Amino acid sequence: MDENSIIADGVKIKVLITRDELLGKVKELGERITRDYKDRRPILIAILRGSFIFVADICREIKVPVIFDFMAVSSYGNSRATSGVVRITKDLDLNIEGKDVIIIEDIVDSGRTLNYLIKNLEARNPRSIEVCALLDKDVPRKIKNKIKYMGFKIPNKFVVGYGLDLAEKYRNLPFIGYIENGS
Ligand code: IMP
Ligand code: MG
Repeated sequence: MDENSIIADGVKIKVLITRDELLGKVKELGERITRDYKDRRPILIAILRGSFIFVADICREIKVPVIFDFMAVSSYGNSRATSGVVRITKDLDLNIEGKDVIIIEDIVDSGRTLNYLIKNLEARNPRSIEVCALLDKDVPRKIKNKIKYMGFKIPNKFVVGYGLDLAEKYRNLPFIGYIENGS
């Protein structure tokens, strides 16, 4: 991993995963999904807003026909600490009954968001549900979810970039980094 830092919006951000590392991993995950869904037509459900860049990149590495829908949930508000409450702020537009669903998520921290999403989507009777998450934070977890496609395990730091934000900022950084004087 790269040790470089950049200054963004007056804050020093240290690179944890470079753009090249991200794109390499995204390609690898896309290839696995392509193999696993050879004769299927999965629906990618991207969880907004953090996964918008990840889904845009990975969908172009998936060589089977896919359709898209988007869901937005809020669990953090503008703070770095989880509130423990998950709320749907934008629901799906499509009916997923009988469909092969792949949830595209940016990061799994406590696992609460994913746990809520899986339960909520299962109740709609899809044929299958799998999870594809770019980042898996190394935290002690009470809630264990089955994540079939996982990008990187990362230390327990608050990360930004490649779609992830801190209070809506830094989403457009092309790498994953963390704020050096924060945690
Ligand atoms: P969980 O419910 O605690 O697993 O939190 C998952 C959600 O919190 C993710 O979908 C992110 O939107 C957000 N989140 C968790 N950790 C980070 C982080 O380090 N940076 C940015 N967003 C995060
Ligand atoms: Mg977020």
